[in-house]
Amino acid sequence: MAKMWAGRTAGNVDKIADDFNSSIHFDCKMYRQDIKGSMAHAAMLAAKNIITKEEADTLIDGLDGILSDIENGKLDFDMDAEDIHMFVEQVLTERLGDVGKKLHTARSRNDQVALDIRMYLRDEAEDMIRMLKKLISSITDKAEEYKATIMPGYTHLQRAQPITFGHHLMAYAMMLLRDIDRISDCKARMNFSPIGCCALAGTTYDTDRRFEAEKLGFDGICLNSLDGVSDRDFCLELLSSLSILMMHLSRFSEEIILWSSWEFKFVELSDSYTTGSSIMPQKKNPDMAELVRGKTGRVYGDLMALLTTLKGLPLAYNKDMQEDKESIFDALETVKMCLQVFDGMISTMKAIPENMKKAAQGGFINATDLADYLVKKGLPFRSAYKISGSIVAHCIAEKTVLEELPLEVYKSFSELFEADLYDEISLETCVRKRISEGGTSVESVEAQIKFVKEKI
Ligand code: ARG
Repeated sequence: MAKMWAGRTAGNVDKIADDFNSSIHFDCKMYRQDIKGSMAHAAMLAAKNIITKEEADTLIDGLDGILSDIENGKLDFDMDAEDIHMFVEQVLTERLGDVGKKLHTARSRNDQVALDIRMYLRDEAEDMIRMLKKLISSITDKAEEYKATIMPGYTHLQRAQPITFGHHLMAYAMMLLRDIDRISDCKARMNFSPIGCCALAGTTYDTDRRFEAEKLGFDGICLNSLDGVSDRDFCLELLSSLSILMMHLSRFSEEIILWSSWEFKFVELSDSYTTGSSIMPQKKNPDMAELVRGKTGRVYGDLMALLTTLKGLPLAYNKDMQEDKESIFDALETVKMCLQVFDGMISTMKAIPENMKKAAQGGFINATDLADYLVKKGLPFRSAYKISGSIVAHCIAEKTVLEELPLEVYKSFSELFEADLYDEISLETCVRKRISEGGTSVESVEAQIKFVKEKI
């Protein structure tokens, strides 16, 4: 079929070239934004007397008909159309005749595609924020459930100090809260309208770009027409935010994978979020967490692909930019699936407090508290640290633990030790006393939960 842009060329592109050039199989996702944008454009053309009010009404009705026909399954996308913009205009012209041909006055596909993608992404950003809030709420519920459950906290994956499982979970709630902020920030920056930038240089028609922008819910317009049609920073910002979000989910996944192993056995994932092995009958595999960790690489790849696509492009529009959509659509779809599955996995996950406690008891995790005990009795911290270290070394040599070392032995290290030390180094005390803001005490974790709940 001859192209709508036939004229300068015959428009009869070779089939292979045509398929290669076509983007409708992925940009058809933006049909709603394309149609809404065209409706606003028709209204603006009439408001500025570029077309008549009757013509605008006819166009808007026609567009509305196309929208409902697509949504009711009465109109299928024509995969031979070059892209969604051409498809809508083609159907409109078929249905309305010559009036349909007036829609594309004072715009170009270059500002049209930039408009559609901004509108599409701002809706997607909203969706993403809603899903993130749901996940944060599930994490916070778990944290509430386990706010007094003691587990070892790690640095270097070595047992470091006792914390609560609720405290650990809340760390992720805080990260995801910042992911929401990042996504809202990029949504705010992308919410400027490029329509009216036209091909690259603006237009000779007396248009009203602000009228159109306002009708479409934008906060303003792109102030340089070259920038308006060339800018894809907003896609990159969203992809970066999604990559950081996936990095958070991936770290969380890694921990869930470790915690589900027999070596840790801190948590039990629900049967509905694990899989079995086809050969080893004993297996219960944390596939969902592994896949989220795996798909993180894919989302980083989407970011890298678009960064690389854009880096050498001269202004203004280049066809390379059509590649923006598949990257960002893939990332959005991937992240949404991950958020959904993560929510289910976390909501149904159960902690095994006995195992967490056992692991916390073995590794001199209260040695800092032993040093703090001496500090409270008047010793400078560095000296207290040294004595505690020697006691730990002694325990290791004698195959015992701090809780079981007799008082006389403690006294041989420092006369400051009294019988009250045992209570001071109990895991419960270690946790209870970490009352500093943001710390692991139950009150502190409750405050964190309250803060997050209010934020979402
Ligand atoms: N399908 C194109 C894209 O996604 C639309 C813009 C086409 N503009 C052009 N001058 N060929 O980028």
